[in-house]
Amino acid sequence: MANLVKDVVISQDTPKDLLLDKHIDYLLKYGTDTNDFEFCMTEYLRMSGMYWMLTTLATAKKLHLISKDQFTEFIDQCFDKETGGYSACPGHDPHILYTLSAVQIACILDSVDRLPIDDIVRYIAGLQLPDGSFTGDKWGEIDTRFSFCAVATLSLLNRLSSINVKKAVEFVLSCQNFDGGFGSKPKSESHAGLIYCCVGFLSVTGELGRIDADHLGWWLCERQLPSGGLNGRPEKLPDVCYSWWVIASLTMLGRQHWISKDQLRRYIFASQDCETGGFSDRPGDLPDPFHTLFGVAALSLLGESNLIPINPTFCMPQDVLSRLGVESQVLT
Ligand code: FPP
Ligand code: ZN
Repeated sequence: MANLVKDVVISQDTPKDLLLDKHIDYLLKYGTDTNDFEFCMTEYLRMSGMYWMLTTLATAKKLHLISKDQFTEFIDQCFDKETGGYSACPGHDPHILYTLSAVQIACILDSVDRLPIDDIVRYIAGLQLPDGSFTGDKWGEIDTRFSFCAVATLSLLNRLSSINVKKAVEFVLSCQNFDGGFGSKPKSESHAGLIYCCVGFLSVTGELGRIDADHLGWWLCERQLPSGGLNGRPEKLPDVCYSWWVIASLTMLGRQHWISKDQLRRYIFASQDCETGGFSDRPGDLPDPFHTLFGVAALSLLGESNLIPINPTFCMPQDVLSRLGVESQVLT
């Protein structure tokens, strides 16, 4: 059977290096017009949007350009006292993903002391099911993304022992497929975003030794296309966010050198918008804060100068994790 390769062609006139100042301007402007259509339509993920912005600024050593209070006040407004979780926006339902983002923001801004830690731990622990899996919220969807969110949040709060870690590990390992990859639940298709979640989960819990890193590393390095970009599954187009999901997973597995770093850099640089700043999923598309974080974060992992080192497991500046004493496993 033919193996179809879908890819993009990178034209000669695309950027060849990092336009960092433009990206900072882009992020600082984003959201200043609260009536903007795109800003209104992204309300349902606002908390994560703030984490993407702060992590990018911190990685670029520009955190001093924002007012910390604005962010900590927003987090407070999104806290749901009844459950102990955080929502994406005031008035929305709490969810494990936005709870992780809120905790990541507090860590980056060095304001963990202000968090209602016991309530957050109660919320996360309450989402674990008897088979070890986690639901994202009270509506019951199960996904390995939520297993990652659970252990990442608890580890940042130094409360990992509040859940059944053994069962949680068993569940994640049961989601590994014959091709070495992981999906959202047992028997679900391997997907690079979910592989990041499962490898990140095993990195947080110190259980990376339980998987065949060569087998998984092979699936991951096959994601690199002739353009240098990485896709998330076979026969998909490359996408800058997969530069992160794949290179972070390979870094945790100690196999970053299994892809061409120069070719990946070339693809990421080509996905910058030279007029507005910001990164898009692929060259020529419109930029957004999500792809801007993952473009910058992937470049940091690739050793870009002017960026501080980012941690491959938490997608947060390494200096923040070192300050908190939070550790994660990386295979050597
Ligand atoms: C692709 O999703 C990405 C994933 C499935 C990974 C998401 C990871 C988390 C929610 C964990 C938190 C992340 C960090 C960095 C702290 P998609 O729905 O866009 O997939 P598609 O490309 O197949 O549409
Ligand atoms: Zn993407």
